[in-house]
Amino acid sequence: MRIAVMTSGGDSAGMNAALRAVVRAAGAQGFSVVGVERGFMGLVEQAYVPLTSASVSGIIHRGGTILRTFRCPDFLERGVRDEAAKGFAHAGIEALIVIGGDGSLRGAHAIQQEWGIPVIGVPGSIDNDIPGSDYSIGYDTALNIAVDAVDKVRDTATSHGRIFVIEVMGRNCGMLALATAICCGAEEVLIPERPFDMDEICRRIEKGYDRGKHHAIIIVAEGASRASHVSYEIRGRLDREVRMVVLGHIQRGGNPTAFDRILASRLGTTAVERLAAGEHGVMVGLVADTVATSPLMKEDAQPRMPLAEFLHIQSWLS
Ligand code: F6P
Repeated sequence: MRIAVMTSGGDSAGMNAALRAVVRAAGAQGFSVVGVERGFMGLVEQAYVPLTSASVSGIIHRGGTILRTFRCPDFLERGVRDEAAKGFAHAGIEALIVIGGDGSLRGAHAIQQEWGIPVIGVPGSIDNDIPGSDYSIGYDTALNIAVDAVDKVRDTATSHGRIFVIEVMGRNCGMLALATAICCGAEEVLIPERPFDMDEICRRIEKGYDRGKHHAIIIVAEGASRASHVSYEIRGRLDREVRMVVLGHIQRGGNPTAFDRILASRLGTTAVERLAAGEHGVMVGLVADTVATSPLMKEDAQPRMPLAEFLHIQSWLS
């Protein structure tokens, strides 16, 4: 069998480790592999490159993706997908593995439905918002980067007695922000899944100072608000020095953690093995530390995050 693999949407650390696992597992099955460059755009432009075991040497530790990636709104158009399908068939490719986030996996589902080829998804996103897997590739690395950054900010916050508002990525999901807040002992965390009241938050910050705290760290999920807006609101209510930091794309780069390398290796290998076993239309994920498959398209499914438990812990420990 000749299979294609691509990385799509926002990159995340560990995508290279997943590519390596796919290529090497495919070799073990006697499959040949082509890489699709720049996600769905590579399907449109027929940017196919042969991938051998040697092509994926020396990448397990590298962030980003050697195939590069792209946000490709053009692919939402049926006509564009139909043209891409012709090129795909012409290249003699029989199956596709897509490594990416929620939107990319929806695109993968559309391909499976419309092109009639076997497609398998692998969750890769720092947001950890993909139903069917406890973890998506890159989340752990992004979390560790955020924790390292907040720890550093905390040192200077304490020295100056300041309030720091730190904005963390995650799109519409608060998991990355909430986990960062727990790891860093943040005073407050604002996430899109829970309403918040700035008056109440400011009262709690002030009480913290009254109890002898020398700083206040407020983690803001980008889906909940903006650090600039939250800082402005706090300045209007408290007579204290407020500074802000937006972590931004720093969270998406860097070497993957050991956890992400193992996750990527497990999911990439399993994707190929399931394909070889005749399974398709599924995403491989990690559920209770066991590799499991779930339908590629999950209507109204919720991400498998311990959000309520994490909120409970945060409320007690802050
Ligand atoms: O989905 C991953 C993510 O990093 C989100 O956390 C963030 O909102 C978005 O991508 C940023 O996208 P871009 O890199 O296209 O600006």
